[in-house]
Amino acid sequence: MAGIDLSVNISGVEFKNPLIVASGPPTLSPQHVLKCIRAGAAGAVTKTITYDVTQQVQPKPRMLVVNPEDALRSRFYSFYSIDLMSEYKPELWLRQIREVKKEAKAYMGVIIASIAGRTFEEWEKLARLVEEAGADMVELNLSCPHLEKGGLMGRAVSSSPEKVSEVVKTVSRATSLPIIGKLTPHGANPVELARIMVSSGVSALVSTARFQGLIVDLETMQPTSWGGFGGYGGPWQTPISVGWTAHIAMERLGVPIIGSGGVSKWEDAVQLILVGASAVQMCTAIMINGLKTIPEMLGGIEKWMANKGFRSIADFSGISLGKIVPLERLERRKRFQIYIDAEKCVKCGVCIRVCPYGALGESPASIPEPDQEKCDNCGLCLSICPRRAIRFEKEFDRR
Ligand SMILES: Cc1cc2nc3c(=O)[nH]c(=O)nc-3n(C[C@H](O)[C@H](O)[C@H](O)COP(=O)(O)O)c2cc1C
Ligand code: SF4
Ligand code: SF4
Repeated sequence: MAGIDLSVNISGVEFKNPLIVASGPPTLSPQHVLKCIRAGAAGAVTKTITYDVTQQVQPKPRMLVVNPEDALRSRFYSFYSIDLMSEYKPELWLRQIREVKKEAKAYMGVIIASIAGRTFEEWEKLARLVEEAGADMVELNLSCPHLEKGGLMGRAVSSSPEKVSEVVKTVSRATSLPIIGKLTPHGANPVELARIMVSSGVSALVSTARFQGLIVDLETMQPTSWGGFGGYGGPWQTPISVGWTAHIAMERLGVPIIGSGGVSKWEDAVQLILVGASAVQMCTAIMINGLKTIPEMLGGIEKWMANKGFRSIADFSGISLGKIVPLERLERRKRFQIYIDAEKCVKCGVCIRVCPYGALGESPASIPEPDQEKCDNCGLCLSICPRRAIRFEKEFDRR
């Protein structure tokens, strides 16, 4: 769109737009990385490269959509999986990153190598080798939800701030590439973890990854599908990721934040940028809706920017942070009269059922009669009414 510049600079690396494909099945091989870039993504993070052979053999089956009808209708869904790290050995990645690099560059695509070491030596070696192979940035997998205890990678290491710091320092010594630290939602205090990563040498942060979950089958009474814990994420996670991103941005740690976790629509990306992200990563939505998601999202972001009169991402990155009202300053005194539009109401009775204060009477067969004294203006009935028949009107003076 004329006059709109979607490019962002993250730690000295130019991205032609703020969309980065996160590490996962859409980037499972260098050829997949290239496909993401051809589809319009500014960058793509490789599936995590590791020397750990136990990570290189995937459980089968390992992925399921919890509510597939909703996923296919672009509604909220949950994605549950135990996809481990990359099946491909580091040597293959290194050789093929070299091969795809030229074409990626022709698209101005940034290749980010996700790495995970079992020892500090492996972290050091992988960081050095991916730089030699031509990766543009390194991302540290300190977030994989499946790795729970011990070890130096995935979320296991994130339970020890000292070890996280040592991993970051080791990688900083090994490479001159900008380092992205990927936060886990399982860290006891993600903001603190972000601070430690930055003071140890990362030059950008991914705000969050997936949670670990467990689904038990009631018939067999065993964990479903592959039989154990799995990563749990999906579009429902976005408000959590927006909150997380805002908290990290408010700390002003001095490094760009890549918002992530549940991004599936352009609106999610815009929200993350409004609370301080410079770019966004997405994985699950591309798996479910395909690579066409990338141009659709870019189109949506551009259109919104044009409507709002923004010409660059920097024009609106972080502008909502100053508008977040802290708990102690939330409005509590103002009261409104509640009004039900009889023309719109279909007497479904939902509002009567949900009202915690019993302010809408008891008979679902008639149009609810609001009791202005009982109504506490909680807002629940307004948001659930299927006909949008309820609204707050002028302020209500109780005296
Ligand atoms: C099936 C699957 C495999 C993934 N594999 C990796 C991986 O190898 N390394 C990694 O750092 N993150 C991995 N992730 C996490 C994603 O990169 C991303 O952080 C997470 O899914 C949240 O983003 P999303 O909601 O857009 O999917 C994987 C996610 C999924 C769903
Ligand atoms: S939820 Fe809406 S449509 Fe249903 S009874 Fe209440 S006002 Fe009427
Ligand atoms: S706003 Fe809350 S308290 Fe008032 S009628 Fe609706 S549900 Fe009840």
